[in-house]
Amino acid sequence: MPSLDWIGKASILNHHNEIPYRLVECNEVVGDLNAGNLIVKGDNLHALKALLPYYKGKVKLIYIDPPYNTGNEGWVYNDAVNSPEIKEWLGRAVGQEAEDLCRHDKWLNMIYPRLKLLKEFLSEDGSIWISIDDNEVHHLRTLMDEIFGVKRFIACNVWQKRYSRENREAIGDVHEYIVVYAMNPTLFKQKRNRIPFDEKQAKVYKNLNNDPKGRWRGIPMTAQAGHATAEQFYEIISPAGKVFRPSEGRCWSLSKATYEKFLSEGKIYFGKDGKSQPNVIRYLSEVQGVVPWTWWPHEEVGHTDEASKELLSIFAGTSGFNTTPKPTRLIRRILQIASNPGDIIMDSFAGSGTTAHAILAQNNEDNGQRKFVLVEMEDYARDITAERVKRVMQGYGSTLGIGGGFRYCELGESIKDENGALNPEVSAEVLAKHLFFSEYGVPLETKPTLPYIGSFNESGLYLFFDTFERKKLAKLLKDSNESRIVYAASCTIDPQKLKDAGITFRQLPFEIKDR
Ligand SMILES: C[S@@+](CC[C@H](N)C(=O)[O-])C[C@H]1O[C@@H](n2cnc3c(N)ncnc32)[C@H](O)[C@@H]1O
Repeated sequence: MPSLDWIGKASILNHHNEIPYRLVECNEVVGDLNAGNLIVKGDNLHALKALLPYYKGKVKLIYIDPPYNTGNEGWVYNDAVNSPEIKEWLGRAVGQEAEDLCRHDKWLNMIYPRLKLLKEFLSEDGSIWISIDDNEVHHLRTLMDEIFGVKRFIACNVWQKRYSRENREAIGDVHEYIVVYAMNPTLFKQKRNRIPFDEKQAKVYKNLNNDPKGRWRGIPMTAQAGHATAEQFYEIISPAGKVFRPSEGRCWSLSKATYEKFLSEGKIYFGKDGKSQPNVIRYLSEVQGVVPWTWWPHEEVGHTDEASKELLSIFAGTSGFNTTPKPTRLIRRILQIASNPGDIIMDSFAGSGTTAHAILAQNNEDNGQRKFVLVEMEDYARDITAERVKRVMQGYGSTLGIGGGFRYCELGESIKDENGALNPEVSAEVLAKHLFFSEYGVPLETKPTLPYIGSFNESGLYLFFDTFERKKLAKLLKDSNESRIVYAASCTIDPQKLKDAGITFRQLPFEIKDR
């Protein structure tokens, strides 16, 4: 398979593994504490690593809208990668091609470790959706093929971001892309939802006869006779006594038995006067919507102007957000296709918080209880990202709030300091969760009751902050007979005895694994 090479690639391949686990400090709550939503301020490389022990394999949908690398964004490539060519760039804004010949290399170095981490969050039926434009789409697709695998590619959707002509370029730029990969494409196809009808598509559904079951349309009851069975040729007598037979080369689309069932259920329509060709009644309420396709016109999902106005209306005319946000309708379309009530959704380039807004709006419509995890590194994470979400929840101007809540968090210190010592700020519960994740690679689902942390695949995990000695061993052996991993500051038990008892001892903090 062809692969992409760029300056710095060799240094970046394992960079995500070198990022230390840091604490996520959640000291502020807005609204309902138990809503399960999170907004984290911080560089997403660190934030994602810090969130991994809690969300690995649990996220159904990731939507990201990273810097497009247009040359005008002024984004800074600042990851602490230990290689001379990357150190040379650090902290310098990524500029126009002529000023900075490495701008595509930098972008690739920035996005690669983040995509590697994001992949870890996805559930087996999860998918990732990435907004991008022509500056990097070709690189992104090749990179995604490398990281996720070609077979996981689902679609490259085209979003019509403008509704008027763009006259500055030789050929006006009117679209962007939303690239989609799914962890399991077969499962994704089975489980993805159809797009609900909008009023334009639903217009053909009327209620000509005041049917109590609501709006419906008549579907002609004939079909090509090519593969018809004998059951599809019969005579139909309408309520007004008119006799119908399929014309030459045609058959009825329903077998006689099904036709009679439908007739008795009032699902066949012969026109107002009972003299017309039979039509099968399809109710709007029974139709699941249309299969998504790659063309996303602005009439259906909004445009950039709409998105800017949306944000301005929330902030009463001055948002202070200098990047163009996405329209809420666009993200809602993604949510409708690839998420269901109760799912966890992540956006690690959150910007003005459109993803959270869209989730709240979608939940409000289908009582969905979807949860969000947002990461934004700029200082406006509080004043714009979190503030927007708060206003949507609590109301703004004449718009009523739709309720909900979130925790606002910042990134704290690393679990271990640069000398390998345990950070005193780390609570016992956070450490326990971290140990569980680093041992078993899956998040701990229950609250630890120390010294017992939890079990996985018939292996129990324990944490003692002091010495692991005889009495503790005796108690452990009494409690259960599964194999155990014990973390403690020291151990006074003979190694052979530990082995006989099926216990693996790991010394704090030196033997904490960085997964
Ligand atoms: C294009 S904007 C996203 C806009 C968003 N979709 C909206 O509708 O408002 C990209 C955002 O990613 C943020 N960002 C860029 N690099 C980041 C990083 N390493 N960690 C976290 N956020 C980052 C930028 O600060 C910016 O707010």
